[in-house]
Amino acid sequence: MPVSPHQRLLVVDFGSQVTQLIARRLRELNVYCEIHPFQNVTEAFLKGFAPRAVIFSGGPASVLNSEAPRPPAFIFEIGVPILGICYGQQVMMDMLGGTVEGGKISGGGGTAEFGRAFVEPRGTLSVLEGWFEGGREQVWMSHGDHVSKLAPGFESFGMSPNAPFAIIADTERDFYAVQFHPEVHHTPKGARFLDNFVRLAGFSGDWTMASYKNEAILKIREQVGEARVICGLSGGVDSSVAAVLIHEAIGDQLTCVFVDHGLLRENEATEVVTMFRDHYNIPLIHADEAELFLSALEGQSDPETKRKIIGGLFIDVFQKCADEIDGAEFLAQGTLYPDVIESVSFSGGPSATIKSHHNVGGLPEEMGLKLVEPLRELFKDEVRALGRELGLPKEFIGRHPFPGPGLAIRCPGEITRDKLDILRQADAVYIDQIRRHGLYDKIWQAFAAILPVRSVGVMGDGRTYDYACTLRAVTSVDGMTADYYPFSHEFLGETATRIINEVQGVNRVTYDITSKPPGTIEWE
Ligand code: XMP
Repeated sequence: MPVSPHQRLLVVDFGSQVTQLIARRLRELNVYCEIHPFQNVTEAFLKGFAPRAVIFSGGPASVLNSEAPRPPAFIFEIGVPILGICYGQQVMMDMLGGTVEGGKISGGGGTAEFGRAFVEPRGTLSVLEGWFEGGREQVWMSHGDHVSKLAPGFESFGMSPNAPFAIIADTERDFYAVQFHPEVHHTPKGARFLDNFVRLAGFSGDWTMASYKNEAILKIREQVGEARVICGLSGGVDSSVAAVLIHEAIGDQLTCVFVDHGLLRENEATEVVTMFRDHYNIPLIHADEAELFLSALEGQSDPETKRKIIGGLFIDVFQKCADEIDGAEFLAQGTLYPDVIESVSFSGGPSATIKSHHNVGGLPEEMGLKLVEPLRELFKDEVRALGRELGLPKEFIGRHPFPGPGLAIRCPGEITRDKLDILRQADAVYIDQIRRHGLYDKIWQAFAAILPVRSVGVMGDGRTYDYACTLRAVTSVDGMTADYYPFSHEFLGETATRIINEVQGVNRVTYDITSKPPGTIEWE
């Protein structure tokens, strides 16, 4: 096991939906951590990893089930601070001699708690520094079972109406446990709590994005050796950062492929290719494959069929490029942490199954290329920080995300070249408006979509029967959830007028005010 030179924190994963948020909060505190599924955390692993502190994540299981996931008992003997979160608290109590009772979900009589709750103090504790200044603290709970009797050595330091042991500690051994989730935003002082915990454990904050960069470069060199890598470049921030990072690691062993599938925005191909050719000396293949993609999409209107056609053709194009590059063994992708779905198999073998969402829509094994994904531990804003560390131009770092299938998923129903032209023009006017009003950097992503609807209008003295387009703009932290951007009516009115006046083929403009969930950001 390669061991990082930094002070290390181990997060033992019991399968919570929000485990990766623990890692993110710790990185914000400049603490190096690794998440490992509980099955992999053996005595030998612990000795090798030598953590300075351990955090147990939450998880969906119930300790009342004899099959429930448990860490090795040895973990309580290694003499480092441990923090148990939610299920992590329950498993800690169960293993150290306390009692856990079932809530409604596991069939017991206790009360489950989901969502916002308030915790009141029952004593002072160093990990609670900065807490309870205004009396009680808001926390986010999500539990069925609850601790009903503490293990020997533990005391309660905070309670909520349904969790008398919301915050507990054995200060002799530096074991702490909470029923709520300090890692989520809905626990406003959660980051402070984790900060207190890592400081108590003696972390000096020796991990930075500069260290991430250097370590990622070493890992890429180790993985790739002398082989050649091709990197699909979309012009979005993820693939650009991945390409520049890999280029720093292996130089000319990297070839970038920019696929123009005919589904790009106005001037996009020229902008991306020029920016890369002007700023970097990275071999770049500009694959103009618009005909290939657009003819395959003709007559298709089902969203999944469209995505599959595009994904399949991307692979064909990469394959063709790879065949032309002698020694190409790897395909690099800008996959991020939210794209990585980690499913821990509680009943199965010792290793976690990690499934990647691929930007190109899935990689068939017969493609014969191995993946290089140097950003798979990062969130979008961390990728931007890494981009700054690598010196990427500002205009690239701040670009709104653009999906691999491009305008295809902004053109619900059948895609025609006419519709794509109209959409490109409407989108360009919309983005121009956003820039002119100084709003681009306040918005996570904005775009126009052309709807498969034509409606009657009147322009001049004539009747029109043209397309309706819809505008979308959202705020988000990581694209997983989103809210619509609250433009002023003046802005919306001015933009609609400009689009209708400047874009032939559109006579109606709507603004999409759906959040995610229940909507998604894209229309397909
Ligand atoms: P949704 O529509 O799922 O989108 O709310 C969330 C974010 O992901 C982008 N997106 C994609 N990006 N390949 C990509 O590279 C895709 O197939 C894809 N589908 C959606 C979307 O633009 C938004 O930023």
